[in-house]
Amino acid sequence: MNLPKNDLFLRAIRWEKVERTPIWLMRQAGRYMPEYRKLREKARSFKNFYKNVELSVKASLLPKKILGVDAIIIFSDILTPLESIGMKFDFIEKQGPVFENPINEPSDIDRLREFNREDVSFVGEIIKEVNTELNRELPVIGFCGAPFTLVAYMIEGRTSRDFKRAKSFMFNYPDKFKELLDKLADMLTDYINFQIESGADAIQIFDSWAGYLTPDDYKEFALPPIKKIIQNVKRDYQPIIHFTKGVAGIVDYMITSGADAYSVDWMIDLRVLKEKLNGSFAVQGNLDPTVLYADKKVIREKVLDILNKWGMESGHVFNLGHGLSPDMEEDKVKYLVDTVKELSQR
Ligand code: CP3
Repeated sequence: MNLPKNDLFLRAIRWEKVERTPIWLMRQAGRYMPEYRKLREKARSFKNFYKNVELSVKASLLPKKILGVDAIIIFSDILTPLESIGMKFDFIEKQGPVFENPINEPSDIDRLREFNREDVSFVGEIIKEVNTELNRELPVIGFCGAPFTLVAYMIEGRTSRDFKRAKSFMFNYPDKFKELLDKLADMLTDYINFQIESGADAIQIFDSWAGYLTPDDYKEFALPPIKKIIQNVKRDYQPIIHFTKGVAGIVDYMITSGADAYSVDWMIDLRVLKEKLNGSFAVQGNLDPTVLYADKKVIREKVLDILNKWGMESGHVFNLGHGLSPDMEEDKVKYLVDTVKELSQR
């Protein structure tokens, strides 16, 4: 086992002794950072950016230099592996991803191609090069979208407020919908195995939209393919972190997925969650990202509040409940990281 020099993040997930609470942030390399915007201009489009190994490696590493985080998530997107199965999309400025050929009817599912690792070879290269550049100083987090969240995009064809197309497909054709989720589970298992073989120290599964389901629908549709992925991934020490937004309503089901850590939004009380989990799993989160728009004094209070709710024990990785936004101030994000490091010293 070749562990990174700073392994606070991995130790916290295993509930081993830590000197302080580790921190990294979702979307830590993003448009709020002037240096990110420079790289983004060079690449011109977001897709050129994440497919360009040199630029993606640089973007992945920015949060180490600028923020001093305890883990590096590779720079990519959850939609990256979908091109390999024949889903064509582009990122449109101010709109987000737009698919050329969304899934409209059940027969569209039969036209999807087999996933091929070679189509995402750049992701493996990015992980390898980030590790080389880091000289094993920090852990590297690989990631994928969860089947439900990806399928929601594939059917919706774009970002949606209510997911009415995806959900009506699910209600009308439940068996076909499950078949598609299962196809993605197999694809994502291979994609995660590929990332671990390339050197990822941990994997985060992003199920950003599963909280839009009723608890019953979550249990029936979103959860089984995640369980299948976690069961089938080949790993040694690498933990799997399971992220959902809208955790409160589905938490009892979510924590049966088999993950090592659960990444939660801010609409659930960390103290209540800790009692419920009773030491069986680690938790990541759960700062309300909008706290970063407030004054530093407030940021400090909210950090302390979360640290106290967890009780300064191991088992907690500090993070936001969702990603950083483009209009946040880099200076305050840096202050957040410094404050967590300062206030969580044991
Ligand atoms: O956390 C990280 O820093 C790792 C990289 C990462 C990105 N997106 C980079 C990105 C990860 C893990 C994601 C996840 C992602 N992507 C999700 C799930 C997590 C979440 O935030 O809920 C979803 C739903 C997507 C799809 C996606 N990608 C959308 C809707 C958008 C457009 C939103 C926007 O800001 O324009 C993206 C683009 C995207 N993904 C950017 C980044 C840094 C912005 C790209 C840019 O214009 O520079």
